[in-house]
Amino acid sequence: MPSAPAQRATAVPNDLEAYWLPFTPNRAFKAAPRLIARAKDMHYYTPDGRAVLDGTAGMWCTNAGHNRDPIVAAIQAEAAALDYAPAFQFAHPKAFELASRVAALAPGDLDHVFFCNSGSEAVDTALKIALAYHNVRGEGARTRLIGRERGYHGVGFGGISVGGMVNNRKLFGALLAGVDHLPTTYNREHQAFSKGEPDWGAHLADELERIVTLHDASTIAAVIVEPMAGSTGVLPAPKGYLPRLRAICDKHGILLVFDEVITGFGRLGHAFAAERYGVVPDMITFAKGITSGSVPMGGVIVRKGIYDAFMRGPMHVVELFHGYTYSAHPLACAAGLATLDLYRDERLFERARKLETAWAEAAMGLKGLPNVLDIRCVGLTAGIDLGSRPGEVGKRAYDAMDKAFHQENLVVRAAGETIVLTPPLIVSEGEIEEMFAKAARVIKAVA
Ligand SMILES: Cc1ncc(COP(=O)(O)O)c(C=O)c1O
Repeated sequence: MPSAPAQRATAVPNDLEAYWLPFTPNRAFKAAPRLIARAKDMHYYTPDGRAVLDGTAGMWCTNAGHNRDPIVAAIQAEAAALDYAPAFQFAHPKAFELASRVAALAPGDLDHVFFCNSGSEAVDTALKIALAYHNVRGEGARTRLIGRERGYHGVGFGGISVGGMVNNRKLFGALLAGVDHLPTTYNREHQAFSKGEPDWGAHLADELERIVTLHDASTIAAVIVEPMAGSTGVLPAPKGYLPRLRAICDKHGILLVFDEVITGFGRLGHAFAAERYGVVPDMITFAKGITSGSVPMGGVIVRKGIYDAFMRGPMHVVELFHGYTYSAHPLACAAGLATLDLYRDERLFERARKLETAWAEAAMGLKGLPNVLDIRCVGLTAGIDLGSRPGEVGKRAYDAMDKAFHQENLVVRAAGETIVLTPPLIVSEGEIEEMFAKAARVIKAVA
């Protein structure tokens, strides 16, 4: 029998079927796609030319706004000059320049930077550095890692192990051994409709003492928390919580890692949230805002003492057996340098700080709308909890996100039953008003 003629896997070039979208209900998306063709500053444009206001800075990443000319030019110039240089055993000048610039923005003696390509890689890198650090100092029994309920630390096995979002964990086996979790800092009864950091909850840091008592400090390597838990729906740290966590870690020789993948680069009005809270962690993970979302990049900033602990042994031997082919990729470094210039020249972190009060007022204006159970905000972030329809948890927020895009020309994020707004830091007061007016109409439409 003659064989059938060879067929293309996809029937037409723009078939929606082949692409498996991440963290997306694929069938619903493909039934009514939300497509974005280009972007500039505060707006996306659909393939048919509709302008859509970006209420989420991409995914907490385009902090300087979209397609900013200096960043585009820097990427174009670098692509023409150096497409790639080996990341191991070789380097290119912009990697050093960017590391120095990032270290200069970080507090205290956080002055060495390890580059990778995403927040997930940054988290796994930080966890590995923590384990290895204790090892090289002769405290190899410190292997336990402590995360927090409702934490999000990306999707690597390390990140989902210390993370605390059940859907990200439950289908993926036993995960890392020897992980424990602090309780979430969120309690609606005590914190509902708090502006900024809630007054209640600092004592929840003391749960670390309970975990230390259970396992003994000599077995614990590190604690990792987001200064503001973002992906689970904007949960600001209670007042005093982070300094308390720092004190307990110090007492027991435990490393404290701040996952600043979304709080870094201005989201809370400072280069890093560590500065806002006056706490110097041992490591900071970053990604997203470092290039304003334009080229994938992540990294870990470590304190001098951590870096120094590895710088021993024969000179020709690798000190840390870890890294990525695309660590400090030239395009990412060029984008990062141009982005940091923009943040500095336009004083965007300060701008976020100045807008915070107006932003919080506008967010709290949604209180009293149908099904609004809580509103939280800190820096330029807002999480609006909606009540669920019976038997359909998450559907109301999903519908709100979908309607916002198709009917209100606004991008919001749906996180479970929470609508999340986190605009680029260039947002104007007029656009803030517009954003919340659109959000209000959407919330009424899904009542
Ligand atoms: C706090 C935090 N850590 C890690 C990540 C993972 O980053 P990525 O998606 O770049 O891997 C995210 C992503 O949103 C995040 O919010």
